[in-house]
Amino acid sequence: MNRGEHDMKNYKIAVVAGDGIGPEVIGEARKVLDITAAKYGFSFNWNEFPYGAGHYLATGEVMPETALADMETCDAILLGAIGDPRVKPGILERGILLKLRMYFDQYVNLRPARSLPRVHTPVPLANGEIIDSVVVRENTEDLYMGIGDVTETGELDMPINVQRKTYTLKGKLSIHSDPSCHFAAQAAINSRPGVERITRYACDLAQKRGEDTVTVVSKSNAVPALYGFFEETAKNVICGEYPELKYEMVNVDALCYHLVRDPSAYGVLLCPNLFGDIISDLQAGLAGGMGTAAGGNIGDGISLFEPVHGSAPDIAGTGKANPIAAILSGALLLQHLGETKAAEAIDKAVSDFLGQASMEDLPFEFGGHATFEQVGDKISGKI
Ligand code: NAD
Ligand code: IPM
Ligand code: MN
Repeated sequence: MNRGEHDMKNYKIAVVAGDGIGPEVIGEARKVLDITAAKYGFSFNWNEFPYGAGHYLATGEVMPETALADMETCDAILLGAIGDPRVKPGILERGILLKLRMYFDQYVNLRPARSLPRVHTPVPLANGEIIDSVVVRENTEDLYMGIGDVTETGELDMPINVQRKTYTLKGKLSIHSDPSCHFAAQAAINSRPGVERITRYACDLAQKRGEDTVTVVSKSNAVPALYGFFEETAKNVICGEYPELKYEMVNVDALCYHLVRDPSAYGVLLCPNLFGDIISDLQAGLAGGMGTAAGGNIGDGISLFEPVHGSAPDIAGTGKANPIAAILSGALLLQHLGETKAAEAIDKAVSDFLGQASMEDLPFEFGGHATFEQVGDKISGKI
């Protein structure tokens, strides 16, 4: 790439470091990204956003609409983690993370799981086998629509007003029982445009990866409307539009069993939103640890890159957080920006570090004693 200094490409990135270990691991991701950018002839203009538990507890504000407009002017978003034990679950997660995914219509949640050098997999792999699979999670629908409530009067009347680029939903979730019956209801929706677009993404990815199968993760035996529809719609796309690909269906319960017996058995796992959330943590555990699982929330507009893990309040502030998941999410961000060589350099630096580090220099998660900062420094040194 022959770019003069004056026309050096500068990427404007929104950063939401968030809660718990979020700021710890994002600091290291930025460090590695800055060093990589300098080496590959581009730079970053980091735009920090303060949203998360600290901001909420101090101001009462979760995330204003103006933030969305500001982020819209950026090339991508880098996020650490959202969620804090001092705040009721859902307020920050829905009000920040899920809000961003829905607002920017990031319909793909891409979560690769790969074996890494010297990272112990809890299930032994057959000779020569590696884990190299990817969860392609539908990221805007299913039980995540946000249509639901709890009633203590036996009456539930919840207006539905969903505005999407692909469709609008208007109406009411209206359920009546007797006054003594307290209940909760949550509506899940999978739409034809929603399932078709994520299926096409999964198929294109399978072809890029040189695979011959897309595995659709379902549960149509117990929840035939919601997941039978997902399964059928996905099957029609795979068989109708991608004749060179094989369609395979596995129920999510059986998938957990098969994955634990043979974590290397799958390639592209196409999941409805909730199953994709759960399976991506299982995959992370099988591949060796939460601290290396990277992810991207991708759409046709602004995309967001973040580790699979959360704010890990149990280790926040101890130095024990593994920043590799955030660093590899940075590599996914670079891939998305088209900086392929720089992205590959980060992947290689992580593998080199893990392959060559002394036991002591490994993250706590892998039995070592290196803080997130020391791990970030060592990986930076390998770029
Ligand atoms: P979690 O992913 O935060 O933690 C699960 C386990 O993995 C913990 O034992 C934790 O210590 C460990 N872990 C996670 N990241 C690690 C890392 N980088 N290095 C080493 N160990 C790591 O899940 P949780 O405990 O269910 O959730 C904690 C909070 O995070 C909750 O508020 C939850 O809502 C939120 N959360 C946010 C996101 C996100 O922002 N994307 C994702 C998941 C959970
Ligand atoms: C994830 C998280 C989120 C999800 C939560 C924090 C809302 O678990 O990114 O995997 O359920 O999608
Ligand atoms: Mn999750």
